[in-house]
Amino acid sequence: MTANTDIHQENSFFPGRLDLRTPINDLLSRRWSPRAFSDRPVEPPKLVRLFEAARWSPSSVNDQPWRFVVATKEDAGTYAHLFSLLSESNRRWASRAPLLVLGLTRTTFSRNGRPNRHSFYDLGQAVAFLSVEAEGLGLAVHQMGGFDEERANGLLAIPPDYEPVIILAIGYTDRPESLPDDLRQREMTPRSRQPLESIVFTDAWEKPSRHVDPHVTGLSDHSSTK
Ligand SMILES: Cc1cc2nc3c(=O)[nH]c(=O)nc-3n(C[C@H](O)[C@H](O)[C@H](O)COP(=O)(O)O)c2cc1C
Repeated sequence: MTANTDIHQENSFFPGRLDLRTPINDLLSRRWSPRAFSDRPVEPPKLVRLFEAARWSPSSVNDQPWRFVVATKEDAGTYAHLFSLLSESNRRWASRAPLLVLGLTRTTFSRNGRPNRHSFYDLGQAVAFLSVEAEGLGLAVHQMGGFDEERANGLLAIPPDYEPVIILAIGYTDRPESLPDDLRQREMTPRSRQPLESIVFTDAWEKPSRHVDPHVTGLSDHSSTK
């Protein structure tokens, strides 16, 4: 139980248990990418909090290369534009999300116009901040790389230094039963990750670090019930 429990839908669906080796922050362990969105609108004060969280993300030389194009269903023209960019498979489920957001990054430094090789990293981190803030507000974020970037440039008159990177579907979740059969199956499939040993090294490449070795740390499986 956390201070955030009150703003969460207590009966909201979560696909399976996480094979957590050790407990992590609730906001991180509860976050996932649903396809079943309710058509309940996102309250304006919550909407602005998402972007305030993104704004306070760190970035290389504090250049803050991220930009966002946001549309609720009331911004019908922009919403339709963003929706039309999505791949067919994403369009199948994203249509109910009350909020679509295009995330873009400036690929050159604003102060000297030189390439910023960390600009995608910075946008990704800002989206991570936004996603965690969303989780705390009882909202879910599903990121989508499956969209037509070329068309986005023309449709939204994006300047040459900016690159459209990701579209986010944001909203309250709905039960998996609201999805067509095939998507419902995917929605209910437990999420998985590579084990820590495959991603954390110390002495040599692909040599699991002792810092994540269950025999050294005494941590094995702390599966979450959420
Ligand atoms: C850069 C990026 C692109 C993604 N593109 C899509 C996409 O086009 N369609 C989709 O359904 N999910 C997409 N996802 C969501 C991932 O599939 C999802 O995050 C991953 O399977 C892990 O699941 P989880 O977020 O529930 O932990 C994308 C995620 C990221 C970070």
